[in-house]
Amino acid sequence: MSKDDINTLLEKTEDWILPELQNVFDKQDGEDVTVKAALYSLFAGGKRLRPLMMQLTTEMLGLLPEIDDDIRYYAATLEMLHTYSLIHDDLPALDNDELRRGKPTCHMVFGEGIAVLAGDLLLNKAMERLFAICEKNPGYVFASSAMAENAGIKGMLGGQSIDLASEDKEISLDLLTELQEKKTGAFIEAAVVTPYYLSKEMSRKDSIDDEIAVDLRKLASHIGLAFQIRDDILDVTSNSEILGKSTGKDERDAKATFVTLLGLEGAKNRLEEEVGIVRFILEKFEVNGFDTSDYQTLTDFLINRDR
Ligand code: IPE
Ligand code: IPE
Ligand code: MG
Ligand code: MG
Ligand code: MG
Repeated sequence: MSKDDINTLLEKTEDWILPELQNVFDKQDGEDVTVKAALYSLFAGGKRLRPLMMQLTTEMLGLLPEIDDDIRYYAATLEMLHTYSLIHDDLPALDNDELRRGKPTCHMVFGEGIAVLAGDLLLNKAMERLFAICEKNPGYVFASSAMAENAGIKGMLGGQSIDLASEDKEISLDLLTELQEKKTGAFIEAAVVTPYYLSKEMSRKDSIDDEIAVDLRKLASHIGLAFQIRDDILDVTSNSEILGKSTGKDERDAKATFVTLLGLEGAKNRLEEEVGIVRFILEKFEVNGFDTSDYQTLTDFLINRDR
């Protein structure tokens, strides 16, 4: 049985991550308009799902409490990368959206130029942080490199590139799956696996391919797909008051999504399939003695979420 419902879990995550996020920029930089724009988006009311996933992996695997501060540091860094991706995703040159997290998008408030810079700033600062912590613990080089790569052409950026190039086109289900695994799945992978990578203390050239790592990456991949399929569904079934972002935009922009490719019912079926696989993988962790109850709460949210 679940210990906490999803809202309680998310509230706890917000309390956990907030002090770390409040300190990402030096006080003396706070007067700069680009810093203000970055902070505006960072504190605009995101769900903090990726930091939650980091906590869930940490708890499920029973990782050492000594590394909790470091996990939180990486969680804040990932939230910065995620926020950067959203600021740029909303720009007129990409999805041209005016509403995000229930507020006007960064470029609506600060102008396009500053919004571009605010995204760049969050990306750059995140990279600085990924380097800086390795000075303290060289065993974190693997985790830092993996997170940087998840943001790059094999990850979120690569997915956004396919997403833009696929507008007004009919693409195959395989390419759509790749698009979504990259644009959304890569950051979810970073969230799910980073705590485990930190606990292993590996160098850049190592690879972490033990059974737990492989299963965590599979888990992340199916959570990522389920999450983005639900996002595609909500774009046609929800409204901006509930969702906090405008709806109907995938159709407007002739985007390749699970709904445009499979239809609403087809997308719902695929979502159930993905969530079924997530549950199956969690069962394996459970059988191996790990406590998956909070991950199961997240899984229920994937299928039912309305925000
Ligand atoms: C939105 O992600 C972008 C997608 C990958 C669909 P979230 O729904 O996690 O966004 P926030 O952080 O809660 O605003
Ligand atoms: C964007 O996907 C995911 C990112 C990498 C930013 P969407 O374009 O579908 O996200 P929303 O619907 O604007 O949040
Ligand atoms: Mg987009
Ligand atoms: Mg978008
Ligand atoms: Mg969307």
